[in-house]
Amino acid sequence: MPTPRDLLADLHARQADAEQGGGAQRIAQQHKKGKLTARERLDLLLDEGTFVELDRFVTHRSTEFGLDKQQYLGDGVVTGYGRVEGRLVYVFSQDFTVFGGSLSETHAQKICKIMDLAVRNGAPVIGLSDSGGARIQEGVASLGGYADIFLRNTLASGVVPQISAILGPCAGGAVYSPAITDFVFMVRGVSYMFVTGPNVVRTVTHEEVSFEGLGGADVHNETSGIAHGAFGSEPECLAAIRMLLGFIPSNNVDDAPAGPTGDPEDRREESLLSVIPASSSTPYDMHEVIRSVVDRGEFFEIHAGFAQNIVVGFARLGGRSIGLVANQPAVLAGVLDINASVKAARFIRFCDAFNIPLVTFVDVPGFLPGVAQEHGGIIRHGAKLLYAYCEATVPKLTVITRKAYGGAYDVMSSKHIRGDLNFAWPQAEIAVMGPKGAAEILFKEEIAAAKDSAAEMQRRIDAYTEAFANPYKAAARGFIDDVIDPRDTRPRLIDGLRMLRTKRDRNPAKKHGNIPL
Ligand code: HXC
Repeated sequence: MPTPRDLLADLHARQADAEQGGGAQRIAQQHKKGKLTARERLDLLLDEGTFVELDRFVTHRSTEFGLDKQQYLGDGVVTGYGRVEGRLVYVFSQDFTVFGGSLSETHAQKICKIMDLAVRNGAPVIGLSDSGGARIQEGVASLGGYADIFLRNTLASGVVPQISAILGPCAGGAVYSPAITDFVFMVRGVSYMFVTGPNVVRTVTHEEVSFEGLGGADVHNETSGIAHGAFGSEPECLAAIRMLLGFIPSNNVDDAPAGPTGDPEDRREESLLSVIPASSSTPYDMHEVIRSVVDRGEFFEIHAGFAQNIVVGFARLGGRSIGLVANQPAVLAGVLDINASVKAARFIRFCDAFNIPLVTFVDVPGFLPGVAQEHGGIIRHGAKLLYAYCEATVPKLTVITRKAYGGAYDVMSSKHIRGDLNFAWPQAEIAVMGPKGAAEILFKEEIAAAKDSAAEMQRRIDAYTEAFANPYKAAARGFIDDVIDPRDTRPRLIDGLRMLRTKRDRNPAKKHGNIPL
């Protein structure tokens, strides 16, 4: 009969065994690849000493292909809960040292358990993925496990934030779950995402491509847009998740963390008087405007490498979180194209789902013309952005810094689609199109017939500029609530946010809308 001491010794031995994952040799291999282990990652992600593990003794139930002789406690994923800056989060961290982090039926059940707990208790789910996808030896049991996770990802969407860090070669189902989550972060030289890896690609399409070239951090942050952040190391990536959590609420009924940031609410910013160049076609960096306005100049940009003609991210105004959306005149003149529309639409929907007010800075010459854009579906993709702004019921504040032309004026959080407070700077030009384009269309014949066509053209441009290239026509109709001194932008936004704290708005009752895809 074992004594209590014997039983404890047995427990400790089992615990130690579970902590070894796939064994010392595979842990050494993981380190040799420059990667951290599943548990080391959790140590960096969570407040020290707060991780509570669940299901550490779970093992798979497969017997085929000799799996019954390969049992690892925990079955390739470390799950549980812990704290970030004192706030509860649920976590799972896949262990590549156990069957390449591949997902078995039981591995999936562990993940589902913590996702269910997260939804029930209203706290974010953070998934650290390092997985070869469905455990090939298990067949349909592992596919079923993935489907169970996809369903939960979808049902949890908009209820609790879901954040994914890709920290290894992730294939198959291991990429579809992160794709449903709200934010996907990757690490250069460590993270890869693909449905099928380079070997399969070579066989099927005869294309030669490296891991990095097919699904590395830069590819997914800049080209496919699947990932929202690329980092130089795993610790940087995990630190970024901690920072992101500081801007967002734990669930869709709680408020985001708030508190004084030490930046005076009435701070006027002199530099905003000169940020707009004299010529309306000269670019400037919208980041300068954003940093001048928000608390302490701290802007947590999301999706920075993708569709750089629009900027999205989180900041604080008067100590409260806001979601920022801004056209970027420094890239493609800030035009709206397919990628910019999709990027901003998804961000806006996140903010709306989690009650984070939206602040929009507008300087947009319109939608990007061209065959590639039209054939690529700029109409349906642009419609996503329009839909997202129209649907959003959070406080929406808009500042037109310079151009708001054409359909893009409507789209960018205009009064007509329930913008709550719409300001313009005195330089704002709110019109159907730019003066030159307008003159060319409206006065084509007069310009052609004139003795001096160039002079006539200029005269017509000047006349259109005089009539429309200002904010006052829009302000006269109440489409702009006020034309403000650019230096007052910060205090006016903070005051507006305070005024809108009790905002109540609802969309008509429905099962759900049908966003253009
Ligand atoms: C079982 C797996 C595995 C898997 C890797 N391993 N993937 N075991 N099922 N899916 C095991 C390997 O056998 C190996 O075991 C260990 O993990 C490490 O793998 P390596 O290949 O040595 O590592 P690496 O060279 O870094 O390559 C990693 C990899 C590659 C790119 C992930 O292993 C790979 O291509 N795996 C298969 C990917 C795949 O096709 N998955 C199924 C997708 S289908 P040992 O014992 O040697 O340590 C899917 C369906 C979902 O997911 C559908 C959703 C819609």
